Amino acid sequence: MTIFPDSAAADYDARILRMVPGYALAQEILACALAARLERSSRILVVGCGTGSELIALAKQLPDARFTAVEPSGGMLAVARKKVDLAGLSSRVDLVKGLLDDVAERSFDAAVVILVLHFLTDDGRKADFLSGVRERLGKNGMLALFDPAAIGEEATYDRWLAGGGLGAAERGAIIARARNDWHCVTAERLDELLRQAGFASSTLLFNALNYRGLVAIASGIV
Ligand SMILES: C[S@@+](CC[C@H](N)C(=O)[O-])C[C@H]1O[C@@H](n2cnc3c(N)ncnc32)[C@H](O)[C@@H]1O
Repeated sequence: MTIFPDSAAADYDARILRMVPGYALAQEILACALAARLERSSRILVVGCGTGSELIALAKQLPDARFTAVEPSGGMLAVARKKVDLAGLSSRVDLVKGLLDDVAERSFDAAVVILVLHFLTDDGRKADFLSGVRERLGKNGMLALFDPAAIGEEATYDRWLAGGGLGAAERGAIIARARNDWHCVTAERLDELLRQAGFASSTLLFNALNYRGLVAIASGIV
């Protein structure tokens, strides 16, 4: 697990836009997909909300929904709190310092997990995490997930990073981190993990290089 240090929060919002192809668009599309599938007054769990960008995108598409967002980094959570306050969303968003395991409620209509799963090793931790998400959803609850799959197209990614103004050393470090430190799985393995965790079907909604966004529906029986 990679809990971000408090210091990561300061430039996170600028950095992530230059690191992740389609970051903002993926959030918008996942928010639209949930809005198209959920009741207006749904309750949504956001796991690893970081600085809270997805909360803003989700709240725009789901104006009557309520959110519980967990994030273990105090620095990231403080930025999220500022953004939520500034957007006038504090009455609809509970921000909790902690991990998925700290969430007691078991009947959310949807869970959103953006750029978290690749930090977990595929030695049971990814499976436990996805089962933990499933356990916190009600019947027919759904998961909106955005995460990098195993890296491919490194040269293309390098050029995309360069287009965003990153120098060679920084680009090399990002690509090395993605290759060596992250625990990305293939699309097929992710499907398998989702099925084992109790998600019956998933729909791919977004794909930019190796970054993929999908919605998966919880099966009735866990
Ligand atoms: C790359 S950031 C993504 C933040 C946000 N979801 C976004 O899309 O910008 C990953 C975040 O997940 C948090 N995190 C890591 N492991 C976690 C876990 N097991 N449960 C909840 N959050 C976790 C980190 O502290 C970090 O803030």
